[in-house]
Amino acid sequence: MKLAIIPRVFRQYTGNSMGSLNSATAVPRVEIANDETPASITACFNLTPGMVREARVRLRWIGYVSIAASLVFFALGRLARPGGPPDPNAALSVYGSLAVLILGGLALALMANSERVPSFVVLRAGIFYQYLGAFALQVLRLCDDIHVVANADTAYDMLLPWIVIFGFSIPAKARVAFPIALITATMAPLAYAVYLRMGMVETLSTAGWAMRFAPVYITAAITALLSTNFYALGRRLESARQIGSYKLTNLLGHGGMGEVWRAEHRLLSRCSAIKLVKPDVVAAGTNSSKSPQTALRRFEREAQATAALRSPHSIEIYDFGVTQDGRFYYVMELLDGMDLHSLVHRFGPLPASRVIFFLQQVCDSLSEAHELGLIHRDIKPKNIFVCRMGRNFDFIKVLDFGLVKNVGSAEDQSLTQDGVTTGTPAYLSPEAAKGSREIDARSDLYSLGCVAYWLLTGQPVFEGRTAVATILQHVTDPPILPSQRTENPVPADLEAVVLRCLEKDPARRPQTADELSALLAHCVDSHAWRRNEARAWWRMHLPSSLAPQASTCTVQTLSVDLPEESESRAATIG
Ligand SMILES: Nc1ncnc2c1ncn2[C@@H]1O[C@H](COP(=O)(O)OP(=O)(O)OP(=O)(O)O)[C@@H](O)[C@H]1O
Ligand SMILES: [Mg+2]
Repeated sequence: MKLAIIPRVFRQYTGNSMGSLNSATAVPRVEIANDETPASITACFNLTPGMVREARVRLRWIGYVSIAASLVFFALGRLARPGGPPDPNAALSVYGSLAVLILGGLALALMANSERVPSFVVLRAGIFYQYLGAFALQVLRLCDDIHVVANADTAYDMLLPWIVIFGFSIPAKARVAFPIALITATMAPLAYAVYLRMGMVETLSTAGWAMRFAPVYITAAITALLSTNFYALGRRLESARQIGSYKLTNLLGHGGMGEVWRAEHRLLSRCSAIKLVKPDVVAAGTNSSKSPQTALRRFEREAQATAALRSPHSIEIYDFGVTQDGRFYYVMELLDGMDLHSLVHRFGPLPASRVIFFLQQVCDSLSEAHELGLIHRDIKPKNIFVCRMGRNFDFIKVLDFGLVKNVGSAEDQSLTQDGVTTGTPAYLSPEAAKGSREIDARSDLYSLGCVAYWLLTGQPVFEGRTAVATILQHVTDPPILPSQRTENPVPADLEAVVLRCLEKDPARRPQTADELSALLAHCVDSHAWRRNEARAWWRMHLPSSLAPQASTCTVQTLSVDLPEESESRAATIG
């Protein structure tokens, strides 16, 4: 990827140039281009990448529909006139026009379908096809299968929908939409003029020209106007799904605290995930004694602490902030895989060797965090992701590290929303359940014991009828042995380690994540699941995930007003 000077064509459409000032905002516009798209996609119509993608899909369908409609037209013509056009001129006109529509439609559909053809090429091809098709349709209406019709009242009825369909397929700014619509409409009198010169149609008076072609121009003008509105609406919708430099593309999932979206950075071609925290969760942290600024500072501290984690098994945080409407968000790496809750739901309990493989990776992440004084507080299967990382499979990432749960609520002990802000009942340690202020690393290890139990048995350790009942069971009830709750073999040594994690008294648990990792390493099955086994499992169960891993974000070329951006960051985070 490289920083490119805005191509000439961009200046042509936007009136901007590198280093010149944008008249509206008086800020320089810069553009990032990549090698695959040497000219700007936005150069065509100043469309956003999302709008370009949608236009591309629509053009593909236009190609298909044009082919189908032309073939139907041809078949009907042959049925009505089995002999075909009566003279060579008419035959040339009819078959030539149909060939333009069919071959042009095919070329357009293939280009729009191929990932190798850049979008700006497809869009321009679409415009070219729009002009050619308009001419061809007009010729078809001038020709009948038997003889040339000079004064057919329906001389432009196919052309009008053609203009409208294209106008809506490629929404554009007024200065682009109107000229395109005008040129398309002009194909009608142009075709007529050509046929007039060839002596195939009758001469028209000035009023005749106006009567015949005014509706085409009126349709084109109205379409261009609507296309401009459609364009403005599209841009507004896109900006509504934008946070800072990130554009939210689709919802990945939602949990107790909020939503997780797939996002694209506006400048970098990197895909990421954005977690948006519900306003009421933030509000819980901004009670009477804590101002929004205090909550923001705490969130900031937590985010910085999490971002400082270097374990490859801790989620990487890229950015964080507060949206205009007061929602906290943080941007993290986008993971390719699934959380452990989904894994067990989909594929059932796991063999002991794989559970050990997972737990050791979680320990690596927790160990570093605990050394830095960061307690996770919400270790649960949904916050542990098993993914593919380059050539590594079954690579574990620990998510939601201490973030937000500490935004003013860690000490509130208000198990509001069943522990959403301080933990999840099925994975809550007894001391957290009792509201102890002495929550330390060992609380995370208890929760990790609960995760191990779930992975081995597919069932939570305790499952009360209510959240409070479950929490009480953590405090008072001894757990049933994992081996008694599953038909799968659970080795005695691993079971003993899990039960130690589940001790009510923190002093009886492994004291650190490193200690737990060492205990796991001593289990008989500890080396039975490694990279090869992991790869084999993924190949068998998720073969599509073995495809070469690349950023699925289409690398787009975008224009950005930098100072506006930095202002908005200062306004929200400063
Ligand atoms: N970095 C990520 N990459 C890909 N998918 C993610 C990422 N983070 C979260 N997800 C997906 O989003 C879903 C929702 O995550 P979220 O953390 O909001 O839910 P949760 O863990 O159930 O609840 P909680 O709010 O208590 O953490 C996850 O189950 C996961 O599938
Ligand atoms: Mg989560």
